[in-house]
Amino acid sequence: MPPQLKTLIPLFGAFIVLFLIARHFLVPVSFGELGHYRFNSIAENKEKAMNYAGKDACADCHDDKAAQLKSDVHSGLSCETCHGPGQAHTENPETVKLNKPDQRSFCGNCHSMNASRPKFMVQIELKEHNPDKKCIECHNPHQPWQLKE
Ligand code: HEC
Ligand code: HEC
Ligand code: HEC
Ligand code: HEC
Repeated sequence: MPPQLKTLIPLFGAFIVLFLIARHFLVPVSFGELGHYRFNSIAENKEKAMNYAGKDACADCHDDKAAQLKSDVHSGLSCETCHGPGQAHTENPETVKLNKPDQRSFCGNCHSMNASRPKFMVQIELKEHNPDKKCIECHNPHQPWQLKE
């Protein structure tokens, strides 16, 4: 055996032992139980409060609005895209009010002219398209092509 190995082998062994000790303390509990992740994280995420209820939950009480939305070009949008997270409202509709975003700038978030927006999102020049009026004075937000007069 070459003489330098006499010191290198024990040194190498010591590194491996140190590595195993460090690994023992650093790997989180439940890691690898079911896969290459921390299994306890599933239970922890389940504990988090829900903020969004989803379209079906809204339809339970607002089936008229759900039917309107389904029938027109906004059918792909979720209620909470416009009204904000609604889980608390579904549990307590009388006390937790959702906002009704009626400002032009709100519709402009998706419809104002912007070259980087996909073409299917129909765009208007916000300053020229019937200015001085709210969009919802003419367009029903749930049925945009059901124009009000
Ligand atoms: C359990 C029944 C119920 C569910 C589920 C429900 N709502 Fe309501 N919602 C109500 C009631 C009742 C009112 C009227 C409350 C009032 O005016 O006091 C209301 C009012 C509203 C209003 C008008 C608020 C205002 O200030 O005029 C909006 C907007 C609304 N709901 C959106 C939603 C959305 C979006 C969802 C799904 C996330 C939803 N609701 C789910 C019962 C429900
Ligand atoms: C594109 C945005 C948008 C989407 C999507 C949308 N809403 Fe609305 N909603 C509005 C706006 C804006 C108003 C206020 C209309 C007004 O004041 O005339 C409103 C009003 C309401 C109201 C109050 C109606 C009233 O007569 O006071 C309810 C309830 C409601 N929405 C429920 C829903 C539900 C349920 C869904 C999903 C099925 C939904 N909305 C989807 C924008 C939206
Ligand atoms: C989250 C994005 C979003 C918001 C916010 C939004 N829209 Fe839309 N809007 C869409 C999409 C997506 C379409 C469907 C485009 C298609 O596939 O035909 C659409 C379609 C429309 C159309 C029909 C355009 C056409 O020529 O087919 C009108 C009108 C319209 N929206 C008005 C409004 C008004 C008014 C508001 C505000 C109350 C609003 N939208 C808010 C995404 C949005
Ligand atoms: C005075 C009534 C009125 C108001 C206010 C109004 N619109 Fe319109 N909108 C119309 C009419 C009518 C059309 C169809 C004819 C046209 O394209 O001008 C239309 C068309 C559209 C289209 C389709 C354009 C296309 O090229 O196909 C979109 C998107 C739209 N409006 C969104 C909005 C938004 C967003 C607002 C608020 C910022 C708004 N509208 C305000 C009456 C109105």
